[in-house]
Amino acid sequence: MTDNIVWQQHQVGREQRADLFGHRSGVLWFTGLSGSGKSTVANALEQALAEQGFHTYLLDGDNVRHGLCADLGFSAEDRTENLRRVGAVSGLMVDAGLLVLSAFISPYRNQRALVRSFLPEDSFIEVYIATPLEVCEKRDVKGLYQKARKGEISHFTGISDPYEAPEQPDLVIDTSSSTLQENVAQLLQLLQQRGWIK
Ligand code: PPS
Repeated sequence: MTDNIVWQQHQVGREQRADLFGHRSGVLWFTGLSGSGKSTVANALEQALAEQGFHTYLLDGDNVRHGLCADLGFSAEDRTENLRRVGAVSGLMVDAGLLVLSAFISPYRNQRALVRSFLPEDSFIEVYIATPLEVCEKRDVKGLYQKARKGEISHFTGISDPYEAPEQPDLVIDTSSSTLQENVAQLLQLLQQRGWIK
């Protein structure tokens, strides 16, 4: 596919943009079941970062599937292609100097490894939103669990499709036993510890 295509090195790169923006770039990858709180936590963190003047972008499964990935469903192959595209886009955004917050179920370990492969070393933080399935199902904000239980949705993660929990996540958050405020504080602290923000 990439025969006869030569990578072009540009003058303005990630390091220069980090100097300009006053913070490093990288991806905070939120993985977890539907309804676990990925988007809610990522949203609140983005708001806190934006208020402090950091340059961010939030990539969200539901939104990306309206455009860039509108042609994809939920088979393992389609999910891999979804995450391959998101990984490639995240790589561009990291090069553009942004703090990227990505909220995708990303149920397979090899899919999350694929995303990581698009990114420079030390620019991927994996956040496992480990809210238990029973809680997600009880919340059922979109009514999807009910449909999945009735067999109206196939390949539904946690019900009729697998979810492989991260083995060594950088942070684990259970939104059923912590507050949103606590989650944001923990994430900001992690970003500071890693030297991504000051
Ligand atoms: S994946 O696995 O990473 O490719 O999924 P993602 O792009 O994050 O999309 C998840 C959202 O799609 C809705 N939805 C489903 N989720 C899981 N399984 C099936 N079969 C399914 N069908 C639709 C659901 O609203 C997910 O959003 P969240 O925010 O996770 O609830």
